[in-house]
Amino acid sequence: MDPASRLDTLAVHAGMPSPRPGGAVAIPLYLSSSYDPGDAGSYDDLRYPRLNNTPTQLAAAARVAALEGAEAGLITASGMAAITTATLEALGEGGHLIAQDTLYSGTFKFFAHELSRFGCAVDFVDATRPETWAAALRPNTRAFYTEALTNPLIQVADHQAVAAFARAHGLLAMIDATFATPVVFRPLAAGYDLVLHSATKYLNGHSDLVAGAVAGSEALVGRVRGRLNLLGGSLDPFGCYMLARGLSTLGLRVRQQGANALALARLLEGHPAVRRVHHPGLEASPHHERAKASFTGFGAMLSFETHSAEAAARFVTRLRLAVRALSLGGVETLVTRPAATTHMGLSPEERARQGISDALIRVSVGIEDIADLSADFTQALEGL
Ligand SMILES: Cc1ncc(COP(=O)(O)O)c(C=O)c1O
Repeated sequence: MDPASRLDTLAVHAGMPSPRPGGAVAIPLYLSSSYDPGDAGSYDDLRYPRLNNTPTQLAAAARVAALEGAEAGLITASGMAAITTATLEALGEGGHLIAQDTLYSGTFKFFAHELSRFGCAVDFVDATRPETWAAALRPNTRAFYTEALTNPLIQVADHQAVAAFARAHGLLAMIDATFATPVVFRPLAAGYDLVLHSATKYLNGHSDLVAGAVAGSEALVGRVRGRLNLLGGSLDPFGCYMLARGLSTLGLRVRQQGANALALARLLEGHPAVRRVHHPGLEASPHHERAKASFTGFGAMLSFETHSAEAAARFVTRLRLAVRALSLGGVETLVTRPAATTHMGLSPEERARQGISDALIRVSVGIEDIADLSADFTQALEGL
């Protein structure tokens, strides 16, 4: 194996222009919004930040592509910009989508309530039960959409079966790999066609940027880039600089977060104030074997249920170290109650169908010392 092809090495070096401009060690930040057209042969050759082709944007895109083992990458202004743009491109006019039934709430709402306004349709399936998928096929089905690890129940689809099913039926296999990151799962190597991220989360990793990413073949990413250039969801060069910088430590962060998450999951699993823990690293998890089959690790997200909604609310307010926050994937441990925050936009029926109870707490485990995290969680659970 070429030593420069390993993930931790790519995270530090991939995307750096060669030769290094001015001898710079860090990726240079070009804020310019306008460029000399030179002898550009087509509109797409003109450099302009909305067209996603200025030097710092290209450097960040190349780093993401390298980490995903992809021919091409694309950085977007948010995870939702990546998801909506790529899905609309994949479905085209009047296309039908088969999607996993437990998805990030924004994605679910877009699929369930917005796709029809573009003449497209969706059917949701249980992505852990391949025997049910054929019934959802229609003549105009064009893509199959999953999440690597679902939000907030941290479920693991049968990813090997999704890739095989998509190939067998000529569908584009698309995956939101936000919760896994390329440290845990490299979907393209597993047979997916297009990888999407909310780079707001682990890829940036420092709770100070909103961004998205797309990775795949040059042909596919080129199609998404073309649409994005018109829809206008590109990320500015400064954001791309921040993302490339955050990516440098991706492996270090995610491995430490993953080890902390497993330790916390085990602590919670044995606690009397906790009714159920959702983390695929636990041997008792129904997702453990599927995670082991596809992943190199289990990620750093977990969720758990207390005995009541009131107990969950009390737990969250008692935490002293972990931070109450909506988002995830930062170096800090971040805790939220999905029913009262991220999934508040779903109707109670939609939440119930997805298994999201009012007593559920989601934890994005950070890189802090596990002894301090364990002490914080233990004191917050005391006598709940
Ligand atoms: C799994 C997942 N995908 C996509 C998104 C949307 O990303 P963004 O907020 O960057 O648009 C989120 C946001 O929480 C998410 O958790």
